[in-house]
Amino acid sequence: MLTRLGDGSRRFSMSGLILFAFVQLFGFVNGFSYIKADCPCEDPSLCKPITVTYKKEVFAFGFSTDENVWSKFNWTKITTIVTGGNPNVTCHAHKNGARSIFLEIMNETYKQQWIAQWIKRIQDNYMDGVNIDVEEPIPGNRKDLRDAYTTFIKNVTTAFKKVNPNYQQLFCVIDTSIPGHMSQKKYYEIMAISKDATSPILWEESTQTPYFNYISKNIAHQIRYDNLASLQLKYWTSFKYQILGVGMWTADLLDYLSKSPDIMKQTQQMWDALPDYYNK
Ligand SMILES: *[C@@H]1O[C@H](CO)[C@@H](O)[C@H](O)[C@H]1NC(C)=O
Ligand SMILES: *[C@@H]1O[C@H](CO)[C@@H](O)[C@H](O)[C@H]1NC(C)=O
Ligand SMILES: *[C@@H]1O[C@H](CO)[C@@H](O)[C@H](O)[C@H]1NC(C)=O
Ligand SMILES: *[C@@H]1O[C@H](CO)[C@@H](O)[C@H](O)[C@H]1NC(C)=O
Repeated sequence: MLTRLGDGSRRFSMSGLILFAFVQLFGFVNGFSYIKADCPCEDPSLCKPITVTYKKEVFAFGFSTDENVWSKFNWTKITTIVTGGNPNVTCHAHKNGARSIFLEIMNETYKQQWIAQWIKRIQDNYMDGVNIDVEEPIPGNRKDLRDAYTTFIKNVTTAFKKVNPNYQQLFCVIDTSIPGHMSQKKYYEIMAISKDATSPILWEESTQTPYFNYISKNIAHQIRYDNLASLQLKYWTSFKYQILGVGMWTADLLDYLSKSPDIMKQTQQMWDALPDYYNK
């Protein structure tokens, strides 16, 4: 068709092409982040995904929907919050230059159609990505599972990058399983229980983690946890080996409401221990 057009029309076609390229580029940079009418943020620009690439990441997991909790996180340090999708948290994260992503717990039945559903969920909630956790350890002899997982990761990454290169995919796998029944306690609860420990505070070398035993209702329990010392060691290790980021589970497990000086200090110290990677 171009061959039949005169010079003027050709210029017109060219500018059409340039316009198209611009639209593509614009869509790319903004991740097709059409700001829908229902943007929940006070400033509609906060509904756009974060476009900054941080050299190193500080991941905070925080699922509380209580503003008295999530607003107390040190947002200067957080580059990504893994959260439940509360729009207020996402707006606040974006205001602070942090990505807001949701958590997806998976088993071995990876399904290709999940990828499209995740992308839709990200777009519908103005979020920035997904954290995919495989909670069942992959046994060493299951090369098939390992390969399938690797392919799935590649597929997710490719699909996300196509929609928006700024979208984030965080993959977590666990490689150990702890026997017995497990439950999770808040840090200040652990500190309180440790006063009635039936053992000294012990130290597990292999994980550089403190633990202690206690008895409750005639049943022996063991608590393994991280404290300031063990976290600092882990953060330093990540620094030493130039690991691209650190994260903690979870920011909700600190007490932000207490007026007790001891507890306020615990909370402050845990945040202060986190490295400062954030270069705004
Ligand atoms: C948050 O972290 C920054 C950077 O380390 C620090 O300057 C600031 O005092 C911290 N904010 C609070 C409330 O602790
Ligand atoms: C978000 O914040 C607004 C204003 O403070 C509040 O009315 C609303 O309930 C919050 N939404 C959620 C899901 O927490
Ligand atoms: C695996 O996950 C899918 C999606 O969450 C769920 O429907 C399915 O029941 C799970 N299968 C097993 C064996 O846990
Ligand atoms: C990955 O994508 C390829 C090509 O679209 C597809 O054939 C394959 O089944 C996918 N694999 C997984 C594990 O999702």
